[in-house]
Amino acid sequence: MAEPLLEIEGLSAGYGDVRVLWDISLSVEAGEIACIVGSNGAGKTTLLRTISGLVRATSGRIRMAGEDIAPLAADQILSRGIAHVPEGRRLFRGLSVRDNLMLGAYLRRDEAEIVRDLDYVYALFPILRERERQDATTLSGGEQQMCAVGRGIMSRPKLLLIDELSLGLAPRLVERLSEALLEINQTGITILLVEQDVMTAFEIARHGFVIETGRVGMHGATKDLAEDPAIRQAYLGM
Ligand SMILES: Nc1ncnc2c1ncn2[C@@H]1O[C@H](COP(=O)(O)OP(=O)(O)OP(=O)(O)O)[C@@H](O)[C@H]1O
Ligand SMILES: [Mg+2]
Repeated sequence: MAEPLLEIEGLSAGYGDVRVLWDISLSVEAGEIACIVGSNGAGKTTLLRTISGLVRATSGRIRMAGEDIAPLAADQILSRGIAHVPEGRRLFRGLSVRDNLMLGAYLRRDEAEIVRDLDYVYALFPILRERERQDATTLSGGEQQMCAVGRGIMSRPKLLLIDELSLGLAPRLVERLSEALLEINQTGITILLVEQDVMTAFEIARHGFVIETGRVGMHGATKDLAEDPAIRQAYLGM
């Protein structure tokens, strides 16, 4: 088995006295695309926010390339190579597409490489170059998602966390963004995708984890999960 890039062990977290995640353990191999699926309110977003340091773990470990990052602050976690594309895209109003993309690189000082990565993002999503001076929040939903993914890439991450790639997007756009994820993965970036569209998630990802009320339920190769009768009934409507 390949080395895990991200390894989570016995993780619990929540908000104030409300515990949301219970003893979560999972690992993501270097170079793969993995996915997390589960019903609304299961804790998927909370899990991604805990990995990226926006929610504090109350117990357990989160190892990135062997280092326990659970005690680190969000910007330190970003500097360890974890970028987070949040649910709802969260682009900054009043800032252009280009400035929103450049925000992803705010911790970097390698100017020439930043320019190269911006070119890469524009090659991946040419519409963003055309719209580079436009206020990012006036983009269409699909373009905003491209911008949010692009902003994640601008930090030059080892691991890209994506919360709900397909939400609210037409099938054609979901397909375009899925292809982009595969291309991004080909450059060596590991991806952990949270997705309510289970079919799409299973097509893109190699391994999947089902989160049920804050706990990891079934997990394994997505090709096996897609054949599982319980999953087919609960998540694929079959
Ligand atoms: N900031 C918050 N303060 C208090 N409770 C919260 C907060 N954010 C989320 N929760 C609660 O934590 C639980 C898990 O929410 P979370 O957003 O992680 O679920 P999810 O799996 O991402 O759901 P969805 O599929 O709807 O995006 C829910 O019960 C939710 O109400
Ligand atoms: Mg969510």
